[in-house]
Amino acid sequence: MSYGLLKGKKGIISGALDENSIAWKVALKAKEEGATFTLTNAPIAMRMGAINQLAEQCDAKVIAADATSVEDLEKLYTESMDVLGGKVDFVLHSIGMSPNVRKGKQYGDLNYEWYMKSLDVSALSFHKFMQVAEKVDAINEWGSFVALSYIAAQRAFPFYNDMADAKATLESIARSYGYRYAKAKKVRVNTISQSPTPTTAGTGIGGFDSFFEFADKMSPLGNASADDCANYVITLFSDLTRMVTMQNLFHDGGYSTTGISEDLMAMIQKNA
Ligand SMILES: NC(=O)c1ccc[n+]([C@@H]2O[C@H](COP(=O)([O-])OP(=O)(O)OC[C@H]3O[C@@H](n4cnc5c(N)ncnc54)[C@H](O)[C@@H]3O)[C@@H](O)[C@H]2O)c1
Repeated sequence: MSYGLLKGKKGIISGALDENSIAWKVALKAKEEGATFTLTNAPIAMRMGAINQLAEQCDAKVIAADATSVEDLEKLYTESMDVLGGKVDFVLHSIGMSPNVRKGKQYGDLNYEWYMKSLDVSALSFHKFMQVAEKVDAINEWGSFVALSYIAAQRAFPFYNDMADAKATLESIARSYGYRYAKAKKVRVNTISQSPTPTTAGTGIGGFDSFFEFADKMSPLGNASADDCANYVITLFSDLTRMVTMQNLFHDGGYSTTGISEDLMAMIQKNA
């Protein structure tokens, strides 16, 4: 059901790799809610081709950009404003990657070049998205930036490796840039801390199935799906949340504030 929440709004959506991607679901819902937008992903992700299928469905132009490249981001904003016929109202940062996780490096044996890459791709790129936008004056007043995070930013999750540090940095950038952008242009900046979700990035983390199940049993509402996450993102892009900024918002079925659940107790008792 459409509420027309984004009627007349223009945006940029990054990170749609395939139909499991959180960004993919956001794009479909943004379209449904009346927005026009461009889609972007790293040039290497384009070669897989799925994004063109989404572009067709959403009547959106795809603009390749490596999120770590300031030059690519300048091009992304300039071309987006051209295609959309004006400044942008919302930007989704749905980007994460750790070479250390991909190559199975332990937290006590990190490759530091790869560590820098994890931070650059997964956190600093959010700063770049905003700094470039501010410099080229690409965002309308009351615009909204949203990035996706995970609770390993606050708590130790051994399997999450250097991505935990990247997410802590990402959330800090949301606060610091959120303050700056609110003062400068009334633009708001938030992160959504999402439940484990079966996507390419999610399932690439070691032991995904176990911690997916653990989180599902711990959360009184169960894990939040990618579709639910997309709904939440849409509200943050809409005018209904104009005074929400500099926040890390948990979208996790209650996981983050549950100590232990009866489901988990029952499991432990069964195995004792
Ligand atoms: N899946 C989960 O369990 C989960 C939970 C919490 C937060 N998140 C976060 O959600 C976001 C989206 O991930 P997803 O789960 O939809 O997985 P996904 O694999 O579908 O999306 C990750 C995207 O990042 C893009 N990317 C990687 N390097 C890039 C670069 N240099 N430039 C531009 N794009 C680049 C990939 O091409 C891909 O589209 C990520 O920030 C992820 O950390 C995911």
